[in-house]
Amino acid sequence: MSVRGVTVLFAFASLVAAQEGRTPLNVSDSAAFLQAHSGPLPALSADDTRRIDTLLRQMTVKEKVGQMTQLEIGMITDGQGDAIHIDPAKLRKAIVDYDVGALLNVKDFALPPAKWHEIIRAIQDMAAGTRLKIPVVYGIDTIHGANYVAGATLFPQPLGMAATWNPELMLQGSAVAAAETRAAGIPWNFSPVLDIGRMPLWPRLYETFGEDPHLVSVMGIAAVRGYQGTDPSSAQRVAATLKHYVGYSFPTSGHDRTPALIPDLTLREYFLPPFAAAVRAGALSVMVNSGEVNGIPGHLNKTLLTDVLRGELGFEGVIDSDWEDIKKLVNIHHAFATEKDATRASVMAGIDMSMVPSAYTFSDLLVQLVDEKSVPMTRIDDAVRRILVMKARLGLFADPLRGIKEGAATVGAPASREIALRAARESLVLLKNTNGILPLQKSAKLVVAGPAADSLPALDNGWTITWQGDQAARYPRDRATIRRAIEERAGSANVTYLPGADFDKPLDSNAVASAARSADAVVLCLGEKSYAETPGNIDDLTLPQAQLSLARDVAAAGKPVVLVLVEGRPRVISAIAEQMSAIVLGLNPGLEGGTAIADVLFGDVNPSGKLPITYPRSPNALLTYDHEAFEEQDTTFGLTAFKPQFEFGFGLSYTTFEYSALTASAANGQFPIEVSVGVRNAGARAGAEVVEVFVSQKAAPITPPVKRLRRFVKIPLAPGATQQLHFTLTKNDLSYIGAAGKPVTDPGVFTVMVGNLRQDVTIR
Ligand code: BGC
Repeated sequence: MSVRGVTVLFAFASLVAAQEGRTPLNVSDSAAFLQAHSGPLPALSADDTRRIDTLLRQMTVKEKVGQMTQLEIGMITDGQGDAIHIDPAKLRKAIVDYDVGALLNVKDFALPPAKWHEIIRAIQDMAAGTRLKIPVVYGIDTIHGANYVAGATLFPQPLGMAATWNPELMLQGSAVAAAETRAAGIPWNFSPVLDIGRMPLWPRLYETFGEDPHLVSVMGIAAVRGYQGTDPSSAQRVAATLKHYVGYSFPTSGHDRTPALIPDLTLREYFLPPFAAAVRAGALSVMVNSGEVNGIPGHLNKTLLTDVLRGELGFEGVIDSDWEDIKKLVNIHHAFATEKDATRASVMAGIDMSMVPSAYTFSDLLVQLVDEKSVPMTRIDDAVRRILVMKARLGLFADPLRGIKEGAATVGAPASREIALRAARESLVLLKNTNGILPLQKSAKLVVAGPAADSLPALDNGWTITWQGDQAARYPRDRATIRRAIEERAGSANVTYLPGADFDKPLDSNAVASAARSADAVVLCLGEKSYAETPGNIDDLTLPQAQLSLARDVAAAGKPVVLVLVEGRPRVISAIAEQMSAIVLGLNPGLEGGTAIADVLFGDVNPSGKLPITYPRSPNALLTYDHEAFEEQDTTFGLTAFKPQFEFGFGLSYTTFEYSALTASAANGQFPIEVSVGVRNAGARAGAEVVEVFVSQKAAPITPPVKRLRRFVKIPLAPGATQQLHFTLTKNDLSYIGAAGKPVTDPGVFTVMVGNLRQDVTIR
């Protein structure tokens, strides 16, 4: 954005100024953020290049295939949880007999750093005793903080982070997540998910940054930079993994790991750009789509893996398979009769490393395939070189235990928790607030009800301490559920807690309704219990009936009901939305979420989150905001068919923001388009506004969407303060994928939309 040519400084710098009543001068928008955090990593050092060349000359086929093999922790350990321990015979088999180069995962819940150190040391010690002493790279799913390191700082899930519309916060949070992961001795992270969230049933929606490619790209590179920095060998950084390349997030059935149908132009317009942006930001690895697109399993798609990812996007890092996916080409996809054929085809399609992860079949079969010359040595060398480069970039040759000694005090540090709390607060979206019922008085007599009211697992969702995030007893005792945070604020004497319903079954809604009659208001906490991947599949987006009935019964008591939704995807609430006085949405705000929700309910924090997805009104009306115009046609040929419950980008505040003086101009009818708009805090409270710049193209030969997000910036504004903002939209910004599969920009009329204002500009 311009304030043109001015140093890039994000909105935080100006927060202070705004709070002091001065108008901020320097802010940087989403495009400036993308630019500031893109660009490749520095070239590999000459020493590392020489080392890798030498190793490749020395390595046997078996040693090379070992580098391409990734096994899970159970293959080298016995026991689970705190009782887990290395089994020396198993470890020897993996590292010495099979030269395995990569390991992953946890078994089965978050381990304290000291336990991780014991495991990582044993692995690297064993590797140091092998012929070529190549260190092993350990990978983990640090999805919303180092969720498999006991005591770690846990942030909102990615969808909640996207709701902050604050990439600087994403950058800071990801840096914390990286440092706490590396402090356990783990240098490789299987995150971020860059699949765009355009299928709300999908149980991994909460792992995405939402439905819009620009928002996903910006948050995605914030994650990559936060994880890797500009030097991933640092003891505070880890390698990022862009997953799940590509098209995984759009299963027709809504179920995880099921087929998607995505036309090539759509894939290039919507699904590829976040991956392209993160490749430009230097991401070290990519994980492949476990599902299939247009009938071709992700792990066999040579066009997408080799021609597009390597050739067009220029990705130079490691392409890792997802869990057991080469085997699944046989037993799930039925693409091959034998695992040997599947192994050959996936390696030839471009897979560098196989997350086997619980067998030695991949290693045995690939050695045979090379011996038989069905897989050429050049393909093996190419894959192994990439893997060794990643190890070098992580500093593993210099110090395979990097992070362990430096990071001891890092995990869960108070300053990191502070960032997580700020993120949780900024992630909350105020969707409705009739007659200013919120914020609540701290002296109010409240009923707190609903299955999400007293649950840390619901606040956090999956990938929390365990894969499914469902073991409440293991969560830190000092973190507040919503109920506890409200009691701390309002005093337990003023708060009656009654669950009223479980997530899927009724309990006692009458008890809640009768308590409501003698209260001032009800805080009703509904939503989803925790889930991850396939166990989270659903066939109906509607909020379960037990919860809807509870809401109806409670509303019938006649007192204001504040609905707090805690969920990982937009469960349909149209049956009750009208009866709710206020609605606050928490897209899994994480361990600090209870506190953050109470902060917003009582007005200690002014909400500033906005929806990163369209919130549907009915289970089958799943249009995204950037649908085509004729999709709005209703049964009487009017244009009212797109009526989501809440629109993408929507979110209220306790103050109001007014937009004025929108101008959009193109000198001599040529790009760029210069946009200018004023934003004023017209209320009595300080607040932060996400300014969203949408553009539509009046006519294009590939049907244009009604609008696309092209820029955003979050600005803090003191009461009465105005900020004038400028955005420069280039030709590139307004291109779309044309019939030939390449970006094109047409002349014609473009409509720029900011807030409630719109302005046409003509390009000749
Ligand atoms: C998931 C990946 C994850 C991997 C390793 C798979 O089931 O699809 O996202 O990184 O497991 O845990």
